Amino acid sequence: MSARQNLASWIKLQQLAQVKKSQHMNTLFAQDSERFDKFSIELPNMLLDYSKNIIDSETVDCLLALAEETGVCNWRKKMFSGEKINKTEDRAVLHTALRRQSHEPLMIDGENVTDHVQSQLAKMEVFVNKVRQGHWLGFSGKRITDIVNIGVGGSNLGPQMVTEALKQYSDGSVNVHYVSNVDGAQIVEVLRPLDPGKVLFIVSSKTFTTTETMTNARTAMKWLTSSSFDESSVAKHFVAVTANKENATNFGIEAENIFDMWDWVGGRFSLWSAIGLAIALDLGFDKFKELLDGAHYMDQHFINAPLKDNMPAIMALISVWNTTFLGAQSQAILPYDQTLHMLTAYLQQAEMESNGKSVTWDGNEVDYATVPSIWGELGINGQHAFYQYLHQSNNVVPADFIGSVESVTPVKGHHETLMANFFAQTQALMAGVNEKQVRADLKAKGRTEDYIDKVAPHKVHKGNRPTNTILLKRIDPKTLGSLIAAYEHKIFVQGIILQICSFDQWGVELGKGLAAEIQNELESNNISSKHDCSTASLMAFYQKAK
Ligand code: F6P
Repeated sequence: MSARQNLASWIKLQQLAQVKKSQHMNTLFAQDSERFDKFSIELPNMLLDYSKNIIDSETVDCLLALAEETGVCNWRKKMFSGEKINKTEDRAVLHTALRRQSHEPLMIDGENVTDHVQSQLAKMEVFVNKVRQGHWLGFSGKRITDIVNIGVGGSNLGPQMVTEALKQYSDGSVNVHYVSNVDGAQIVEVLRPLDPGKVLFIVSSKTFTTTETMTNARTAMKWLTSSSFDESSVAKHFVAVTANKENATNFGIEAENIFDMWDWVGGRFSLWSAIGLAIALDLGFDKFKELLDGAHYMDQHFINAPLKDNMPAIMALISVWNTTFLGAQSQAILPYDQTLHMLTAYLQQAEMESNGKSVTWDGNEVDYATVPSIWGELGINGQHAFYQYLHQSNNVVPADFIGSVESVTPVKGHHETLMANFFAQTQALMAGVNEKQVRADLKAKGRTEDYIDKVAPHKVHKGNRPTNTILLKRIDPKTLGSLIAAYEHKIFVQGIILQICSFDQWGVELGKGLAAEIQNELESNNISSKHDCSTASLMAFYQKAK
């Protein structure tokens, strides 16, 4: 048994889970008309209602005791102060420094992180203004109209998700495109309508070794130089964001066109750094700053609010309760705001790459469930696709419903319909409808007894499906910054409670290494005998078929 399972709060939570498993939220709501007041947190631009979970005050107290016993507050202090809490990589975890407003020094290994951050922000601002105002000219003397961000994972998902979410705030000075897939179909499609003389490429890669990104960047460079007939045009059309300046320079990118990244910023938490350059180019530097301000606001809330009123901490505790104690295996992220259509994909990386692990930070196997798999879709689209499963399958999927009070693009009549669905779904998932109600309803509609007998069992919804509701005032750069930071801190707290090192990603290395070997074998037409017979035969079939 691991150290966590010996904690008094853990043992108590296990006992409570046994009791709670047989309770229905309908009873909990009937017993306590103040559940919403007790189990919701209101911040200036967002509200979290977590009352539709199988919890009561005792459960929440016990979860808070777990956070205390596992030292969440102490770990939080360590993270913000730059202690190397990414143990397996011996790194600090300081994405919060990227949006810090204090100019006080923050030292890591004798270097002042604050200076680094401020100097890159200043460099970004100058560059962004130059490009957006048309002073940065391409090889043919034309202004830049299109930005193509080449990157994958954290060097793509964060910037692209934010660009999509804040589209309405762009003044159209430039058009931003993203290329992440090594399938050539994507880059060909993106480049097809573009004029090479007006395109600026951002090669975003913390390591500057990622095969997919390097392959796309090489293709982009060939596309440019075959049009400009001049290698020197690269300086006018390529910038890089990386922690590996040497590789970027060797690749052919001018030293002054390289924006810094640092090992204390994890890829999946990097949109606040120059990895967010495409966002700033699209929206302007002021709006990029507002995004940082929103995240900083959430950092302050996370640092200062007592755990019981702390939105990210409560989100984490509810997730641990649903997963580790009640046994849910997945969690749905269901945005009811079109602008957030990439949020689920973003959170898949943020949460699953961070906490999808099964050894503790001391290297011991965990013997409890860690994080759920994250999936989902825009809520309305999901309703007409997989909500059947959410309501009636025998797997319970806790879900986060995220909606906005105001639409950024109001169209008469649309928002009320959207929000009516938003509220209806969490009520339906919670309350369900029992057979007695179903029968009475069918009878009232004049159905025959035979019909009722046949159909009633299929119309029963057991309910008792946990949901959180996050209601945003309106999607804007600040609110979005706060929302993303809330999830980042949620993931951090989950990691601490579950004793998971949330900041490495060794699990992506094995496949990466193997892919490199297999690519060599395919290119040299020499399939190694060390593969299993399935893989070897597939490779041989592929070689023969092509
Ligand atoms: O594949 C995993 C990963 O390392 C992610 O963590 C990261 O966001 C992504 O690849 C891209 O890495 P890089 O920015 O170094 O190209």
